[in-house]
Amino acid sequence: MKAIILVGGEGLRLRPLTCNVPKPMVPVVNKPFLEHMIDNLKRHHIDQIILAICYLPDRIQHHFGDGSDFGVSLTYAVEQSPLGTGGAVKNAERFLEDTFVVLNGDIFSDFDLSDMVEFHRDHKGKATISLTPVEDPTAYGVVEIDAQSRVKRFIEKPSWETVTTNLINAGVYVLEPEVLDLIPGGVHCMLERRLFPDLVEQSVPFFGYRSNAYWIDIGVPEDYLKLHHDILMGKAVARFPGKSMADDIWVEEGCKMHPSAKLMGPVVIGRGCTIEQGVRISGPAVLGAGCTVGRGTAIDEAILWQNVKLGKDAAVRSSVVGNNSVIGDNTWVVDGSIISDDIAIGSSNKLEHGIRIWPGNTIKDNAISF
Ligand code: GDD
Ligand code: MG
Repeated sequence: MKAIILVGGEGLRLRPLTCNVPKPMVPVVNKPFLEHMIDNLKRHHIDQIILAICYLPDRIQHHFGDGSDFGVSLTYAVEQSPLGTGGAVKNAERFLEDTFVVLNGDIFSDFDLSDMVEFHRDHKGKATISLTPVEDPTAYGVVEIDAQSRVKRFIEKPSWETVTTNLINAGVYVLEPEVLDLIPGGVHCMLERRLFPDLVEQSVPFFGYRSNAYWIDIGVPEDYLKLHHDILMGKAVARFPGKSMADDIWVEEGCKMHPSAKLMGPVVIGRGCTIEQGVRISGPAVLGAGCTVGRGTAIDEAILWQNVKLGKDAAVRSSVVGNNSVIGDNTWVVDGSIISDDIAIGSSNKLEHGIRIWPGNTIKDNAISF
C-alpha cells in the first residue's frame, strides 16, 4: 500500500521556527519531524511514500532523496503553487492506482494504522477518516458519525455554537482511487471543505475510525514543545539519535562535558556539544549538534537546535532556540520564548512571555532588562 504525505503548507502558525525550514523539516528530538512520520509508516509496513511538496521543496528533496537512506522508496509530487490538501492529492493521481493512505504532514500519532486499513476494508469504505477526541475542536475539522461509524457531517474549523462533538479529523485518511474523480484537477481544492462534505452529500461510503492513541498536530510552538515533552517523558513513542547513558540521558559522540555539570534526565545531547563548568540541565531538554553551554548556565525544559551558543550564567527555560543563535552572559530566555535562527542576544537581557524573535535579529546588551 502507498501513502501520500501532505507537506506543502507554509507552517505559518509555527513561525518563526518555519522561516528557514518547512514544517516537516523542523527537528523533533534531533531529527526532522518527517523522519518520525516515515518511521511510523514503516512500522505498518508502508514503504512506498509520495511526498506532496510545495513550500521550500528543495530542503525536503535534498535531505530525503529517493528515500533509500531511510529504508523507504520516495516519490515527489511537486506543486508550483499550493493546490490545497485536495489539489495536492489529485496532483499525485498518476502514482495512486490502489487503496492508499493520505496523511497530513504535521501529525504525530501512535495510532494503529494497520487496524484502520482493516476497518476500512471490513466496512467496504470508499473513504475512511481517523478521528481523535480533543478539548477544543474549533481549531480542527469536526466530524459527526452515526452508530455504524458512518460520517454524517464534516465541518472544518466550526464556531463553538456549531460544535456537537469533541471528535475531530486526526488528519489520516484511507481512500479508494475512485474518490479522486470528485476532486477537480489543476485547481486549488481542500479535502476538508470540498471532498469530505461532498462524500457525505452524495452518500458515498465514508466512515470514521476512532482512536484514543497519542495524537498531536505540531502546528503551533506550544504543541511543538509539548511533543518533545511527551516523547522524552515516554508518553509518545519515538526513536531518536543518541546513546543511552544512565538515568534517562542520551548523548551522541564527540561531546565534552565538565565533570561538575549536572544533568537531570530526560536529556538528549547531540553530536559535538560542549558543556562547561557548573552547568545544570533539567529535562525534558534537547541540545542539537554543536551547542556550547557556558559556565554556570541553567537549561530547564528547553529545546536548542544546532550550533547554539549560550554564554555564562544564562538561563533557558520552557523555550526554543534556533540554529546558530547566540545568547549572551546573564541573559534569560524563559516562559515559552521562541528565538529562531541566526540571532545574537547580548548580555543581561530577559526574554519572556512567549516572545518570538525572527531570524537574523540582534539584541544589544541590557536592551530588555530585568
Ligand atoms: N502539498 C500541499 N499543498 N500540502 C498542503 C497544502 C497545499 O496546498 N496546504 C496544506 N498542506 C499540508 C500542510 O503542510 C499540513 O501538513 C497538512 O496539509 C494540513 O495543513 P494544516 O495547515 O496543518 O491544517 P490544519 O492543521 O489547520 O487542519 C488540518 O489538520 C487538522 C488535524 O491536525 C485539517 O485536515 C483539519 O480538518 C484537521 O482536524
Ligand atoms: Mg496542522
